[in-house]
Amino acid sequence: MDRIRITGGQRLNGTIPISGAKNATLPLMIASLLTDQTLILENVPRLADVGLLQRILGNHGVDIMVSGKRPGETAYDGQTLHISAANVIDTTAPYELVSRMRASFWVIAPLVARMGEARVSMPGGCAIGTRPVDLLIMALNDLGAEIEIDRGYVIARARKGLTGGSISFPKVTVGGTHTAIMAASLARGTTVIENAAREPEIADVADCLNKMGAKISGAGTARIVVEGVPRLNGARHRVLPDRIETGTYAMAVAMTGGDLLLENARAELLQAALNVLCQAGVEVTVTNAGVRVARNGAGLSPVEVATAPFPGFPTDLQAQLMALMTCAQGTSQIRETIFENRFMHVQELVRLGARIRLDGERATIEGVERLKGAPVMATDLRASVSLVIAALAAEGETMVNRVYHLDRGFERLEDKLSACGAAIERISG
Ligand code: UD1
Repeated sequence: MDRIRITGGQRLNGTIPISGAKNATLPLMIASLLTDQTLILENVPRLADVGLLQRILGNHGVDIMVSGKRPGETAYDGQTLHISAANVIDTTAPYELVSRMRASFWVIAPLVARMGEARVSMPGGCAIGTRPVDLLIMALNDLGAEIEIDRGYVIARARKGLTGGSISFPKVTVGGTHTAIMAASLARGTTVIENAAREPEIADVADCLNKMGAKISGAGTARIVVEGVPRLNGARHRVLPDRIETGTYAMAVAMTGGDLLLENARAELLQAALNVLCQAGVEVTVTNAGVRVARNGAGLSPVEVATAPFPGFPTDLQAQLMALMTCAQGTSQIRETIFENRFMHVQELVRLGARIRLDGERATIEGVERLKGAPVMATDLRASVSLVIAALAAEGETMVNRVYHLDRGFERLEDKLSACGAAIERISG
């Protein structure tokens, strides 16, 4: 298993190119199941999760071709996928695959909408809380799918196709909203989705579906209206930049000091997080090329933050912010309101010398003068990157073990950071 060795204390200076968003790429790839024509996705990040979803779609009979490199293309340019679900040969998504990536459960929506049947394994437990799929099932049920749960599988059937309906989510859910939009696109009649997730990735997927011939309005707001169409066609779509990767590198430079241009980043995708950084005393400037984040000299002010669905502060940046606040001049409070158990990074940050108290969904972080390097263990995607951020500022060496979590969601993390002055290297094996 690969490890990452970091020697802390170097400032970050330079440019980091921001990749395409993982959380848009996955549902976009899944949306390819809605049509027998080719969907071309550009700016797709090279991530383990993307590779895994390629395998999962391959199991359904989907052909995926990755475009060759173009002249002048750098290692950071995203890849282009040509995805064709002309022949869906299997509507079952087995446990061995779905259990490795929760988002793959979402294939249930296009499969039942287009093929009339889907049999998808329940994703099972997950390191960050129970994360059920009841609301995804509710949405499909509201569109007329018959649902049966059998030996760990959810079976959804709509032999005569889905019918438009009214879906009102009792809780904001990103996966539920993706599922509802995809299913409603091929349903007969109009669907109204209330209390929809407003995450930018929802709007990006809806945008792509509209290029494919869907009739979706209101994506990006809490009320989405989908007028079903009998079939969808192919399209070409460029994945939007990753706001979580952007926020992560913004927190990294806030931690180490220095000056980074986050190239291609779009500030409006993470305004809440940038506002928190400004409150902490970090300089944020929006430029034509992206977002510039700098901290020179001044100490960090503590903050009080609660995670919330978009446009609130994202839960996917909670661990990174906590790492940053371990060195603030005073006491910060962070409340995690989306997922229970999303504090697995706390124990590891404490190993580096952080002072953090947990009380239910609330963490109190007392800033310390300096963290000290130590061996730590990555437990999930966002938690592991928070350890990297802490290590970049810690005195001495930190070894981050189990970095496969990082590879799921961060493209060439160590290359991007070392190009800006960090002492970071991957140790294979
Ligand atoms: C997506 C993101 C993930 C992010 C999360 C919240 C992707 C691939 N993943 O995950 O990175 O952290 O949004 O912004 O885009 N819930 C239910 N029943 C359900 C579904 C969800 O109770 O059927 C609950 C969850 O337990 C959680 C909350 O709703 O407490 C939000 O979860 P959801 O927005 O669905 O997260 P994901 O779509 O899985």
